Amino acid sequence: MPPAATESAASSASKTETPTPYLTTMPADDFSWQITLAQKVIAITGANRGIGLGIAEVCLANAAKMVYSLDLMEPGEEFEALQNRFPNLKYIQTDVTSEESVENAINKVVEETGRIDGLVANAGMTKHQPALKFERAELEKLFNLNVFGAYFCAQIAARKFIELGIKGSIVMTSSMTSYRPNRAAPSAPYGATKAAVRNMCHTLAMEWSQHGIRVNSISPGFVRTAMTYYVEKSPDWDLKMQYYGGMPRLADPRELGGAYVYLMSDASSYTTGIDIPIAGIVGAW
Ligand SMILES: NC(=O)c1ccc[n+]([C@@H]2O[C@H](COP(=O)([O-])OP(=O)(O)OC[C@H]3O[C@@H](n4cnc5c(N)ncnc54)[C@H](O)[C@@H]3O)[C@@H](O)[C@H]2O)c1
Repeated sequence: MPPAATESAASSASKTETPTPYLTTMPADDFSWQITLAQKVIAITGANRGIGLGIAEVCLANAAKMVYSLDLMEPGEEFEALQNRFPNLKYIQTDVTSEESVENAINKVVEETGRIDGLVANAGMTKHQPALKFERAELEKLFNLNVFGAYFCAQIAARKFIELGIKGSIVMTSSMTSYRPNRAAPSAPYGATKAAVRNMCHTLAMEWSQHGIRVNSISPGFVRTAMTYYVEKSPDWDLKMQYYGGMPRLADPRELGGAYVYLMSDASSYTTGIDIPIAGIVGAW
C-alpha cells in the first residue's frame, strides 16, 4: 500500500476509534439526596388535561422551576385553575405528530428558560373497537400519535440535551395494555402502540446513556380521565371491579405523579430503561 493510503487508512481508523466522552450521571460528593425537581424545566406533552395535567401538578408541587404543556388543544378550566396556583405552568400549542411543531416548542422552552431538563412523552389516544372491525386508517392514526409522536419527541429532546450538555430525563407514558388486554374495552392496536412505546425505551436508554440521558416509561392502569369516561358508566362496573381484583377504583391522575417526579429527578441517576406499572394491581397480570 502507498504511504499516503496507509496514512489515510490509519487516520480514519483513529478517527472511528476515538471514544465519545461518557457523560456520567454519578451524583457529585455534595449531592443532597433529596428527591426534588428544584431548578428543573420540564416539558410534558398532552398536559392540558388528564394524566399529563396530573403529572404537571405533582412536578410543580415538587419544586419544578417551570413546567410546559405541549398540547394541541386550547387549555380548559382545569388547566387555568392549576396555572392560578402555579404561574410557572405554561402552555405551548404543539402537535406531537409534526416534528417541526415539536422542534419549535422545545426551542421556545429553551429560549424562554435557557434550558430543558426533562421531557414526558405523554400525549396519546385510544379507540375501542373489536379487532375484526379495525381499518388501516384507524391503526395509522393511533400509531402516528402514540408511537411516532413519542419517538420524535424523545429524539428532538435528546438532541437538545446533547447540544446543551444537559443530563436529561425522558419518560414515556405507556399503559398496562402493553402487558395484557384491557378487558373492559379491548383495543388490540392501542395495546400494540403502548407495547412499542415501552419497548423503545429500553434501546433508547442503552443508546443515550453515553450522553447522560435516561429513558424510562410508566404504565398506568385505569386512571380517571376523558379517556376512561366509559368505565364508571358501565352498569356492572362494581361487579367487574370485584372480578378484576386489586384496588376497586380508578386512580386520580396525580397518584401517578410521584413516579414521574422520581424519574425526572437526579435521585434516579442510575435508573434507566425500566417501566413502572402503576395499576393498583387491578386485573393482576
Ligand atoms: N386514562 C387512562 O386510564 C390511561 C391508562 C393508561 C395509559 N394512558 C395513557 O396516558 C396518556 C394520557 O391519557 P389521558 O387519559 O390523560 O388522555 P386525555 O385524552 O385526557 O389527554 C390527552 C391529551 O393529549 C393531547 N393531545 C392529543 N393529540 C395531541 C397531539 N397530536 N399533540 C399534542 N397533544 C395532543 C390532548 O389534547 C389531551 O390534552 C395517553 O398516552 C394514554 O394512552 C391512559
